[in-house]
Amino acid sequence: MQPFDSARLHFRPLTAEDTAGMFELDSDPAVHRYLGGIGGQMVSEPAQSAALIEFIQQQYAENGIGRWAVILRETGEFMGWAGLKLVAGPLNGETNFYDLGYRFIPRFWSQGYGFEAARAWLDYGFETLRLPRICAYADWHNTASRRILAKIGMRQGPTFLVEGVPCIWYEADAPA
Ligand SMILES: CC(C)(COP(=O)(O)OP(=O)(O)OC[C@H]1O[C@@H](n2cnc3c(N)ncnc32)[C@H](O)[C@@H]1OP(=O)(O)O)[C@@H](O)C(=O)NCCC(=O)NCCS
Repeated sequence: MQPFDSARLHFRPLTAEDTAGMFELDSDPAVHRYLGGIGGQMVSEPAQSAALIEFIQQQYAENGIGRWAVILRETGEFMGWAGLKLVAGPLNGETNFYDLGYRFIPRFWSQGYGFEAARAWLDYGFETLRLPRICAYADWHNTASRRILAKIGMRQGPTFLVEGVPCIWYEADAPA
């Protein structure tokens, strides 16, 4: 659970102090546009974001990993989260897989941060956590996320349904 950096981003575990930032993130319909089947509910009260942070902290304790806060190094601003989560599933017929994910407040979109975070977490998963395989999935219509997963070199798998929403599977094996 040691924080680490990429060129422009700082990654660290979420804390209760991130509640306002998490509320800004998950109360925004634009953020949840493609998360209908897969990304949890939108929130309407900061208390819900505080509870989510506690839930994620429980995952840190139980699984040694979970989504982490992403901070813009230049300003110290909370941007959203990224990271690896152990997903019990089954999803696409898979159980107990490590899922790569990311979610940012819209004012940080379209500046390459999503790609930078995804790349950093794929490397962290393979090099630091020594995971043999990392998976991801996205709403079929989520072009930006699919572009990121393709650009970091994950293989596209089948289309499958999550709560009636068509999603695409991606995976990558640890480099030999
Ligand atoms: C998905 C998300 C993280 C992308 O972050 P980002 O920082 O804007 O992405 P990047 O700037 O790194 O762009 C990645 C690629 O997607 C493209 N892209 C970005 N926004 C796009 C959009 N709205 N439509 C189509 N393509 C888009 C970029 O052009 C880039 O491709 P390129 O390298 O070929 O030019 C961000 O939109 C987000 O937080 N969305 C809400 C949560 C979410 O959907 N998470 C993923 C769930 S699977």
